Parts: sequence; C-alpha cells; structure tokens
Amino acid sequence: MKVAVVGATGMVGEVMLKVLEERNFPITELLLVASERSVGKKLSYKNEEYTVIGLADAVAAQPDIAIFSAGGDTSLEWAPKFAEVGTTVIDNSSAWRMDPTKKLVVPEINADTLTPEDKIIANPNCSTIQLVMVLDPLHKKYQMKRVVVSTYQSVSGTGVKAVQQMENEAAGIEGEMAYPYPINRNALPHCDVFLENGYTKEEMKLAREPQKILDDRTFSVTATAVRIPTAGGHSESVNVEFHNDFDLAEVRKILSEMPGVVVQDNTATNTYPMPMFANGKDEVFVGRIRRDETQPNTLNMWIVADNLRKGAATNAVQIAEYLVENNLVSNTSEAIS
Ligand SMILES: NC(=O)c1ccc[n+]([C@@H]2O[C@H](COP(=O)([O-])OP(=O)(O)OC[C@H]3O[C@@H](n4cnc5c(N)ncnc54)[C@H](OP(=O)(O)O)[C@@H]3O)[C@@H](O)[C@H]2O)c1
Repeated sequence: MKVAVVGATGMVGEVMLKVLEERNFPITELLLVASERSVGKKLSYKNEEYTVIGLADAVAAQPDIAIFSAGGDTSLEWAPKFAEVGTTVIDNSSAWRMDPTKKLVVPEINADTLTPEDKIIANPNCSTIQLVMVLDPLHKKYQMKRVVVSTYQSVSGTGVKAVQQMENEAAGIEGEMAYPYPINRNALPHCDVFLENGYTKEEMKLAREPQKILDDRTFSVTATAVRIPTAGGHSESVNVEFHNDFDLAEVRKILSEMPGVVVQDNTATNTYPMPMFANGKDEVFVGRIRRDETQPNTLNMWIVADNLRKGAATNAVQIAEYLVENNLVSNTSEAIS
C-alpha cells in the first residue's frame, strides 16, 4: 500500500507511525504530510528518514490509503480531494462522523459494513471508542435503555499544545495556553467547545456516536466530559440501565470474551483500570463492575483506554488492516503479491 499519514507531526500522528510500524502494516511507499509550517521537516519510520510534504503533493501522489489526524477543517477540505483520486481516507477528526453517507467504524463492532465504495471512513471520537467496546457486547445480551457517562480525559486528547501547557505549569514555566484555565492540579468540565444546548461538542459526540456505531437508536446516552491533568489515557465512569436483568459474573465473562477488552476487576487486590497502566496499550480496560443498588437492571463500571492508541491510531490502523485483508482498497492484490 502507498500510505499517506496526514498530521504526521501531531500527537496522534506520532502514535500512528508507531502503530503502523509495530503492526508491520504492508507499506510500499509512505508519505508523511502536515501543514505548510512543517514541510521539509524530517521524521523517521522504521529507522528511515522521511521529509514532510504538503497536502497538494500528497494528493498528486495518489496514495491507496490516507489516514488523517489533522483536525476537522483540514479533513473537510482535503479528504474529498484524496477520495477523488481513488484514495481511501480514514479520518480521525469529527468532520464526517455523523454524515449519514459515511461509515463510523470500530472494527470489532461494525467493520463488516465496509465496502470498496467507502472512500471516506470516519474513526469515532476517542471517548466513544472505549465506551462502545464495552457497551456493545452487553447491549447484545441485556439491551440497553440509558447510559450516563462522566469522563476524566487526558490532556493528550487535546494535542501537543495541551501536553506542553500541563508540563509548563508543573515546571513553573509560563507558556502558551491550550485551555482557558490552568490544567495542572485542576479539572475542567469543558472538553471541546460549548454548544447552544449547554453541552460541549465532546459530550454530544458521546451521546450520538454510539447509536450510529451500534446501528440502534433505541437507547440513549447522556454525558459530562471533564479534562484532568493526566497524559496516559481517558477514564470513564459509566452507569448503564438495561431492559433485562444481568448477573455480575456473566457480565464479567461477556466482557472478558470481547476482543480488545480486558477486565481488571478485583477489589481485594486493588485491581482496577488506571490511565497509568493503559498508557501505551491497545486494549480497553474495564473494572469496578458493580450493580447500581438504587434502581433495577443497572450497572456501574469504570472504563480506561489510551486515547492516542485504541482511541485514535490503533482503531484507524485496524480499519486499514480490515480494508487490505478484505480487498476493499483498489490495488490490494498488488500490495499482497
Ligand atoms: N489526541 C487524541 O486523543 C485524539 C483522538 C482521536 C482523534 N483526534 C483527532 O486527531 C486530530 C489531530 O489531533 P492531535 O491531538 O494529534 O493534534 P495535534 O497534536 O495538534 O496535531 C495536529 C496535526 O495536524 C496537522 N495540521 C494542522 N493544521 C493542518 C493543515 N492546515 N494542513 C495540514 N496539516 C495540518 C499538524 O501539522 P503541523 O505540525 O504542521 O502544525 C499536526 O500534524 C484532530 O482532528 C483530533 O480531533 C485526536
């Protein structure tokens, strides 16, 4: 595959290159793409040096796959230009996620909906991916009615500027601010921009994307998204009301059988998921699994995942792998031979 990584100099882009390398994705030619500010900059992949190019040059090279992590505006403008030259775009921004003509894919759940005609494929929001990985198998068994989720999100979810802000504050250095307030030793109930309904855009992504991924509008999700001074991953406190009753041992069994999900749940040994341990890993970790004693058929859980890996890069690379394995990219046969 001729692969373009758009946003290669960013927080997600860096992890994208790591994941492509680790999983030995079949790359015959690699194009590293960023804004005009970074053109000419050198980046390395598999111990080889690459020069960052601009978007127009990348389109002209007609890659088979372009993985975008460069913000919504870049995606809106450039993804269609890649699609026009035959490239399949996998996009990490929110630009196309709720477009009814585009698929929103978590491979373990709905990759089987992909076809060769899908030229722009959306990667869900990082907080959504880890949530649906846990909800999907439980929904199949017990049928969800309502989900209440509160997030504790890593600064790495905002990008390089935010990680720098946190590090500057911890070191007592004055610098550029990614947030309207200090983040170190703080908690901001404010992820992405505020909307007219009083929710943030992040909260509405959590409310809407799960229904599209699970292809089911019979359940609802309400969210409060909070930014905290951690860098290793996003955490979520999740309360789920089902139509049907459940057995806790069976819930743990169902979750442990879900590919990509790891149950870490033993209060006797203080075993529960934490961003410190999820950091750098591809799995979604779930623990603190317990019955909500205030109403029937309701479960409480704590879900943690590395937002840059399963929440972004790993999920995108898994989509690309699925496309290649299932001959859904135009010249797959050439790459495999
Ligand atoms: N961080 C996460 O956990 C996460 C998870 C899921 C999805 N995402 C999404 O992934 C995208 C990138 O996030 P990030 O955290 O990696 O941000 P980031 O660290 O700020 O990196 C942004 C990247 O986009 C490039 N870029 C910006 N404007 C561009 C333009 N006009 N043309 C071409 N390239 C441009 C930047 O290039 P320069 O270096 O040249 O400026 C950089 O490579 C966003 O859409 C974000 O919503 C992030």
